[in-house]
Amino acid sequence: MAEKYKRADGRDYDETRKMEAKVGVVKRADGSAIFSFGKSQALACVYGPRQFHPQHLQNPEKGVLRCYYDMTSFSVPERKRPGPNRRASEISFVTSRALETVIPLENYPNSVIDCYILILQADASTRCAGINAAALALASAGIPMKEMVSAVSVGKIGGAIVADISKDEEDYEIVKDGKTIKSATDIPFAILSRSEKISLLQLDGRIKPEDLKEAIAMAKKVCRKINEIQKKALKKIKEE
Ligand code: CDP
Repeated sequence: MAEKYKRADGRDYDETRKMEAKVGVVKRADGSAIFSFGKSQALACVYGPRQFHPQHLQNPEKGVLRCYYDMTSFSVPERKRPGPNRRASEISFVTSRALETVIPLENYPNSVIDCYILILQADASTRCAGINAAALALASAGIPMKEMVSAVSVGKIGGAIVADISKDEEDYEIVKDGKTIKSATDIPFAILSRSEKISLLQLDGRIKPEDLKEAIAMAKKVCRKINEIQKKALKKIKEE
C-alpha cells in the first residue's frame, strides 16, 4: 500500500496555517484589514464609494468595484520587479469578480469603490489571503455585503486533498519515468458565507471529477472557519 502523504509542516489535511486577521489598520482608508495564512500576508485598503472619474466610465445603473492586487518587491525570495504584470492583472480581475457579487452595486450609480491589495510577504495562496483581507476591508468601510466572502486554496498533493497550500507544497515534485516533474494541483476557492456559493474557482494542474468534489467540500468546510475569524476581527473593531 502506498504511504499516506505527510505534510512537511505536520498539518492535518484540512488544517490551514496560522490565520491572523486585523481590521482598521490604515486610518486614511475608508476600510482596511490585514489577513495572513502563515507567512502569506495581505493588506487591503478600500476607498469609496465615490464618484467615478473620468466621467465617461460612469455607469448610471450601477457602481464598479475595482480591485488591484500587487506584491511588494521583497515579499518573495527572488525580488519581484515593481509594478503590474500579467499575473497581477489576472488576480486583480478574478478578485474583483469574486467580491462584487456580494455588493449591491446598483445602489451606487456612477460610483467606484477601489480596493488595493498588497502582498507584504508571500508563501503561496496569496490571492486567497488577499480576498479575505479585501472582504474585511469592504465590510469595515461600511459597504453593505449580502454575504461575507472567504477564500482558501485546496490542492491535491501526494495523492491527498489538502487545504491552504504553502509554497513548498505547491512546488511538490515526483519522479516519473526517470524525470522529475511538478505534480501539485492547486485550486483557489472563494466561498460565500450563507449560500456557500462559489465566487472563485481556478485550477492549476489536473484533477479528477471525484477529487474535485472532495476539494469543494473541503473548501466549504475550511471557509466556515475562516469566516469565524473574519467575524471576530470585525467584532473586535466595533468594540474598540
Ligand atoms: O499566491 P498564489 O498562490 O495565489 O498565486 P501563484 O501565482 O500560484 O503564486 C504562488 C506563489 O509563488 C506566491 O504566493 C509566491 O510565494 C510565489 N511567487 C514568487 O515567488 N514570485 C513571483 N513573482 C510570483 C509568485
